[in-house]
Amino acid sequence: MKKLVYLTVLALLPTLLLAQNRLTLNADLGRDTISRHIYGHFAEHLGRCIYDGFYVRENNTKIPNTDGVRTDIIEALKKLKVPNLRWPGGCFADTYHWKDGVGPKDKRPSMVNVWWGGVTEDNSFGTHDFLNLCERIGAEPYLAGNVGSGTVQELSDWVKYVNHESGSPMTDQRKTNGREKPWNVKIWGVGNEVWGCGGNMKPEYYANIYRQYATFMTDWVNSDKLFRVASGANVADYNWTEVLMRDIPHQMLEGVALHHYSFVEWEKKGSATAFSEEQYFKTMKTALRMEELVTRHSTIMDKYDPGKKIALVVDEWGGWYDVEPGTNPAFLYQQNTLRDAMIAGTTLNILHNHCDRVRVANIAQTVNVLQSVVLTSGEKMLLTPTYHVMEMYNVHQDALLLPLDVHVGDYAFGDQKLPAVSASASRDKAGRVHISLVNIDPSRTQEVTVSLRGVSAKGVSGRILTSGKVQDYNSFDEPNKIKPAEYKGAVLKNDELKVTLPPVSVVVLELK
Ligand code: AHR
Repeated sequence: MKKLVYLTVLALLPTLLLAQNRLTLNADLGRDTISRHIYGHFAEHLGRCIYDGFYVRENNTKIPNTDGVRTDIIEALKKLKVPNLRWPGGCFADTYHWKDGVGPKDKRPSMVNVWWGGVTEDNSFGTHDFLNLCERIGAEPYLAGNVGSGTVQELSDWVKYVNHESGSPMTDQRKTNGREKPWNVKIWGVGNEVWGCGGNMKPEYYANIYRQYATFMTDWVNSDKLFRVASGANVADYNWTEVLMRDIPHQMLEGVALHHYSFVEWEKKGSATAFSEEQYFKTMKTALRMEELVTRHSTIMDKYDPGKKIALVVDEWGGWYDVEPGTNPAFLYQQNTLRDAMIAGTTLNILHNHCDRVRVANIAQTVNVLQSVVLTSGEKMLLTPTYHVMEMYNVHQDALLLPLDVHVGDYAFGDQKLPAVSASASRDKAGRVHISLVNIDPSRTQEVTVSLRGVSAKGVSGRILTSGKVQDYNSFDEPNKIKPAEYKGAVLKNDELKVTLPPVSVVVLELK
């Protein structure tokens, strides 16, 4: 008898060690589309993002480039299917005067980047350089207008310069500067963080300013079809969203922004690579707070806009840590570990699941700054774990969100808990169903059972991103330490999938 009990316990041991989670995929209940613009990026004049990042100058003989922009970055971003790229900031945007960045490069005035290290910039990367870069990578530009220190005239001129065919001094100037056809830029930010670096305004004051700027960006009926984004709330400032939705006429408002970063503690961010489990847990707690933030900002927007015409635009998100030792503290250059892959996977799942309202988002920043997808060092370039998650997940772009019922276990640390598994699912235009799963638990494997409703699958394949430790990262010496691999941990039987998720892993499954 004793032996029997012992053998039974032994047989059950693997299941006892595996945490159990249950999902139901409702493949017949899809209603909303996951806009590809949720996969947007952000190129700010900050540290080595533009200068010595994207832009290495036309006369650079060591680093292959196209009109001064690194060719390896162009290729990497094309593969990523970047849908839109926000520029030139960030805080920088409200100090930027676009007219200083057009025309012959040797005649452009220089400027001081006051927010980011007080460095002098020569304006050699300007409007033409950015918009041509967007064309090369196939991304829509998202121009962030200067409200804080600019003028209504300046922003209105920028719209004419880049969008109008001909017939104005602005269009003549563009043609003289070498560009015949307009670029037709649709997405425009009207100031950035105007509650802080963009002017320290109160929401009521900004709502009025917004109305003025937005009026002169278009004609009576917005025949340019601009998508104007109001500078939005800092994290949980719900009153900000309330005032904007109440005080700005909805025919002049296409999007309201929201910024939310993930960190250990704002005043004590800690190393990007050498962090404890406690620091990891705290970072994931702030990252997962995105669920509460988009839910609550959306609820306020629903009150004023039940038809959901105005988008919630999460145009800054990502992990924020201490800079890499020995680098300029104002340049915000940080490494990117598997922790960042966890942030990327869970955040994108949250944004997918709120795609009825969240229709644009931008991870900060593309190259050499916060949660970057690309890091460079001289001639070397590497792709971060965040890049790989965004590449694996891009199957969801413009796909139909398929609702999931989710019952998952906890990742516990001390007396605190977070949901261990995050998930989202969609069906693409070719009918393929994809399910994205993240196990944020650094030590426990998660067994996930997915009941498939409304779809009959014949097979399943997948890709996985993981590594031995959550602190692992790709370095210039070992750039491919973390990269996607084929995944064989999913078994399909009848209408049920059994998926085994290793600790700290991101998996994307495709049903056949
Ligand atoms: O991403 C760095 C900075 O964070 C941005 O410039 C600003 O908008 C935010 O505060």
